[in-house]
Amino acid sequence: MVIKVLNLYAGIGGNRKLWKNVDVTTVENNKEIADIYKDFFPEDEVIIADAHQFLLEHFKEFDFIWSSPPCQTHSQIRQNLAVRFGQNEPVFPDMQLYQEIIFLQHNFKGKWVVENTIAYYKPLIEPQDVGKHWFWSNFQILPVKKISRNHRGTIAELEKRKGFDLSKYKVDKRIVLRNCVEPELGLHIFNSAYKSVQKTIVNPPTSNPSDLTLPSAKAFNMGLKVQKSKISSPKLSPTEITSPNPNIMFNKLKMLEARKLK
Ligand SMILES: C[S@@+](CC[C@H](N)C(=O)[O-])C[C@H]1O[C@@H](n2cnc3c(N)ncnc32)[C@H](O)[C@@H]1O
Repeated sequence: MVIKVLNLYAGIGGNRKLWKNVDVTTVENNKEIADIYKDFFPEDEVIIADAHQFLLEHFKEFDFIWSSPPCQTHSQIRQNLAVRFGQNEPVFPDMQLYQEIIFLQHNFKGKWVVENTIAYYKPLIEPQDVGKHWFWSNFQILPVKKISRNHRGTIAELEKRKGFDLSKYKVDKRIVLRNCVEPELGLHIFNSAYKSVQKTIVNPPTSNPSDLTLPSAKAFNMGLKVQKSKISSPKLSPTEITSPNPNIMFNKLKMLEARKLK
């Protein structure tokens, strides 16, 4: 089965690199970057346009939607270092991120995922925290081992890490490569959406206590915090231990009567 995918804010396609059996439409508004994407993925349809507007107009045409809206205005590094130490002016966080999440939650019938950086503020909608990214989706993303993004590495190291040789291109390689989702993480997310055991999440994160006892509860629970006392068995007083089962009550009465007769 070929899955029809919409890949929004595509960059050079780190997330898409290892996907197979897909028919991908990609939207990227920077022509230079879109041209590089086209070189790496000639079979994909590449559209140079505003991804936000494209989502609104075309979402019904796809089985799976991945969106990676720009992360700069949510970034911890920008806020906690550059703004704090006067290198950059503070800016409004770009709420198109949350617009897309809410839009997809309520309108899209397929599988979807929105990816962004781990922000400097408490998220407005609880994400799944996987592989040093935040993901909002309508399926459970299985946890991954801690991965290194190696963002302080050299260009050559970043190229190796992300699996792209950009030597012939003139773009700012460091930015473009840092923007890339690690290909193996992109594949992991895609596979999580299409695991046969997975169910689409229609309602908000589970609060079923039995789910919360799993070792990977945090991931399955999408970050929902549950007090331990609520998930362990309650301590019962001796009167509460008395079984409501009538047969047991009857046996107990018989025992008491037998004692009295003695
Ligand atoms: C975080 S990067 C995407 C990384 C990509 N998901 C990957 O794994 O390689 C975001 C990309 O969105 C592009 N972009 C920013 N605003 C856009 C818009 N309004 N419409 C389309 N693309 C946009 C940027 O040029 C950048 O390449």
